[in-house]
Amino acid sequence: MKTGIYPGSFDPITLGHLDIIKRAALVVDKLIIGVLNNSAKKSLFTPEERVAMIQKVTSDIPNVEVESFNGLLVDFADQKQAHIIVRGLRAISDFEYELQIAQTNRKVNSKVDTMFFTTSEEYSYISSSIVKEYAMYGGDVSQFVTPYVETCLKAKIKENR
Ligand code: PNS
Repeated sequence: MKTGIYPGSFDPITLGHLDIIKRAALVVDKLIIGVLNNSAKKSLFTPEERVAMIQKVTSDIPNVEVESFNGLLVDFADQKQAHIIVRGLRAISDFEYELQIAQTNRKVNSKVDTMFFTTSEEYSYISSSIVKEYAMYGGDVSQFVTPYVETCLKAKIKENR
């Protein structure tokens, strides 16, 4: 049984993330989406809200599970008996950081390896931060997130006003 972990902040999940999830779910038996629960990192949505949103938008993919985690990613991978970490690469600017994390994680836990998916061109410029900023100023984010996430974003921004 090949278990992969797709970790991230997912604040919120974008169509770019969803593209990676759908493709990664085809190459592993089980894909666990690991939502980083790090109180030091300020997020718009709580970990519980992020998990719920991801569960909703991935409900049609049978081999996907969603969980939040804190602490080291490699420890979470161990706990889940996962040997594959999935990450998406958008542009060359992602590469340096991702290479560093992948190499560090492998050094710390040699049983875990990282598999990269190159983002589909139509999503290569999308990031959760830009989506949030755009939405906060009333921009239309329907091209970047699912209708459900768009509704959650609008509600959260209204709640925070
Ligand atoms: O979506 P993001 O914010 O780019 O995801 C970053 C993430 C969650 C993959 C990374 O911060 C992470 O793995 N954090 C857990 C703590 C850890 O293991 N850190 C060591 C590698 S930076």
